[in-house]
Amino acid sequence: MHSSLSMSRRSLLRAGACLALCALSPPGRASPSAVREIRIVAAPTSAPLTGKGEVDVWAYGGQIPGSELRLRQGEPVRIVVENRLEQDTTVHWHGIRLPNAMDGVPGLTQPPIRPGESFVYEFTPPDAGTFWYHPHANSLEQLGRGLAGALIVDEAEPIPVDRDLLWVLADWRIDESGQIWPGFGNMMEAGMSGRVGNTVTLNGAVPADQPVRAGERIRLRLLNSSLARIMALRLEGHDPVIIARDGQPCDPHVIEGGRLLLGPAMRVDLLIDMQGEPGRRYQVTDEFYEGLGYELTGFAYSNELALRTTALDPLRLLPNPLSEPDLANALRHELTLEGGMMSLMMGGGMMHGMRGMSGMGQAVWSINGTSMTGDGHAGMKPLFALEREGSHLITIRNQTRWWHPMHLHGFSFRVLTRNGSSVPHNQWADTVLLAPEDAVEIAFVADNPGDWMLHCHVTDHQMAGLMTVLRV
Ligand code: C2O
Ligand code: CU
Ligand code: CU
Repeated sequence: MHSSLSMSRRSLLRAGACLALCALSPPGRASPSAVREIRIVAAPTSAPLTGKGEVDVWAYGGQIPGSELRLRQGEPVRIVVENRLEQDTTVHWHGIRLPNAMDGVPGLTQPPIRPGESFVYEFTPPDAGTFWYHPHANSLEQLGRGLAGALIVDEAEPIPVDRDLLWVLADWRIDESGQIWPGFGNMMEAGMSGRVGNTVTLNGAVPADQPVRAGERIRLRLLNSSLARIMALRLEGHDPVIIARDGQPCDPHVIEGGRLLLGPAMRVDLLIDMQGEPGRRYQVTDEFYEGLGYELTGFAYSNELALRTTALDPLRLLPNPLSEPDLANALRHELTLEGGMMSLMMGGGMMHGMRGMSGMGQAVWSINGTSMTGDGHAGMKPLFALEREGSHLITIRNQTRWWHPMHLHGFSFRVLTRNGSSVPHNQWADTVLLAPEDAVEIAFVADNPGDWMLHCHVTDHQMAGLMTVLRV
């Protein structure tokens, strides 16, 4: 009874979200110059995340994950965001190379959207690929309560696959009452691995098996929208080919060691030829946290075979119009990440460090010795300026005992080397995951002017100082 009620409520909400999205852009009626308009409402609602009753959440378009936005490469869009939360918000279009004023960082690129107000975002996505959107205000709580959605920019000519699937993976901390545990901003966690939860959902629900057919080719878009949980996915019995990272095509290659690392905010597009036996089930597991592995979902093969409709070669996506950095003449910069619990303890600073820690706004981490906390506010001074149109090579050194998915707004960068070895397969990214003690080199052309955030996407780390601003 309860579940059928919640199901129908959910489908109503979905229908409502679709109406809101579709009604504003009547097909065929728009004049060629008319900009497509999309409306998104951020508001409290509830969702059957756990399969054990409704959970109070904050959501875009009344659903978890938020309404899936599908844009066209090179086509301008206007997105009206209405804030029906009881606090300020903004929306950041993660990975989209857009004008600085549309980047959604409160205090830095726009005023916050007050409760009851709207903000109009206008941009033209230059790149096709798998992106996402999320708030950049009170991020720990707003993202942790569910405000996140996928933003897919379709290629003019999508590669032929039998099915194009999206898995929005999210991690929640559910308490005994079945609700989201409200203790956001625990400083102990902020100095360690961040708020890792106890419930992982796939497209807003505790994962059920994924029905597949032997012989089909699937494009699987993965997005880790977690606050802090890093994943290492293993797909038993399959050889997925990575065709894009963070929306940017790479040379198709199989997953090294069979374990796909996916930190918060990271996306990977896979091509999977479903070569399992009809009728069998294959596990998909997450093995990142040692001793805490779990089965995320499974591929459940039906007894029928699919007729192959596509070629057998790994398919290559067309490159996006990114400027290739000129490495020989690139200007070099260094970013050193420091802090976290172990270093506080090891430096004998534990007692001292702990004393001032109450609530957010305390710094536990630093970049080049300085700490910006929160998610954006007025008066953030850029750490350094990058000469416009120049090629820049940045070395990021993780001198901490923790992992950090480091994200740069406004650009996609080449990931050149990791610990001195070159990174193969022509990889571009907007978020690069650093293991403890890792050093990576990234490079890009500073062709997008403005003040751009660079921060760790473990949200607790960002809030507690692992954030800075670069000016182009
Ligand atoms: Cu998803 Cu400031 O980023
Ligand atoms: Cu971003
Ligand atoms: Cu971090």
